[in-house]
Amino acid sequence: MLELKNLTKTFRPTGNPEDDKKALRGVSLTIKDDDFITVIGSNGSGKTTLLNVIAGTVAPDEGELLLDGKDIAKMSAVKRAEYIGRVFQDPMMGTIADISLFENLSIASRRGEKQSPFRWALTKKKREEFASLLEPLGLGLEKRLDAAMGSFSGGQRQSVTLLMASMNHPRLLLLDEHTAALDPKTAKTVMELTDKIVQEQHIPTLMITHNMKDAIRYGNRLIMMAEGKIIFDVSGEAKTKLTVKDLIDKFQSSSEEALPDSMLLD
Ligand SMILES: Nc1ncnc2c1ncn2[C@@H]1O[C@H](COP(=O)(O)OP(=O)(O)OP(=O)(O)O)[C@@H](O)[C@H]1O
Ligand SMILES: [Mg+2]
Repeated sequence: MLELKNLTKTFRPTGNPEDDKKALRGVSLTIKDDDFITVIGSNGSGKTTLLNVIAGTVAPDEGELLLDGKDIAKMSAVKRAEYIGRVFQDPMMGTIADISLFENLSIASRRGEKQSPFRWALTKKKREEFASLLEPLGLGLEKRLDAAMGSFSGGQRQSVTLLMASMNHPRLLLLDEHTAALDPKTAKTVMELTDKIVQEQHIPTLMITHNMKDAIRYGNRLIMMAEGKIIFDVSGEAKTKLTVKDLIDKFQSSSEEALPDSMLLD
């Protein structure tokens, strides 16, 4: 469904070509409708840039982006957000602290609709609908719909962000180390919730993680990036047989870069 063809992106942070950062050096990838792809790679290998190019917040220098055969390279990030759900590392970023949980969910549920997001009807039906979405999380959030979002923990906020990113049946879900800032127990809860949402709703997903065990355990496909390229792409049974050692060996045989400590220590 989503085809990436030969994407390149070079950043010129100082204006001096010598400081150029080649973030993507020709990335091609076909993301199928049943793909849950985990993405690993060293710091600076281009993982976040790849997600930004897909979401439209970074324009590629070259290459094509086809969603269901339609070229979306010129579509704005705002327009693409109707089709693409995103969750970032920072649990504070995905929700608005000063307004209630109910209001946050209302805005998300109206994404892609024509009316102003602030003209929602405070109906009993909406509250019941949100409560039924929140209840399965097992966090008791359905009883706190009127509490300010800022009063929830990082894990609770990240769980709500995930719900919001997936509630309108997006064509694609992009997760960028979305459990990395959480304590290990909360990270596990949010990871399991992620897996449940992706499986139940069949949302094609790209998930960047520094946790190699998670990269192996979750999803049907794994890609490894180094120096702006995809250096390894494995799926199905071959993926389930992978070990952390295989990944480290693969990485070290294909790249000069060092693996981040966070990947080796997990
Ligand atoms: N807006 C930007 N301006 C300048 N350089 C950038 C910008 N965004 C990314 N880069 C550079 O592009 C390269 C790839 O960065 P990117 O954030 O995609 O890596 P990453 O794989 O997500 O790394 P990490 O694991 O640290 O998150 C890096 O050298 C980075 O410094
Ligand atoms: Mg990154």
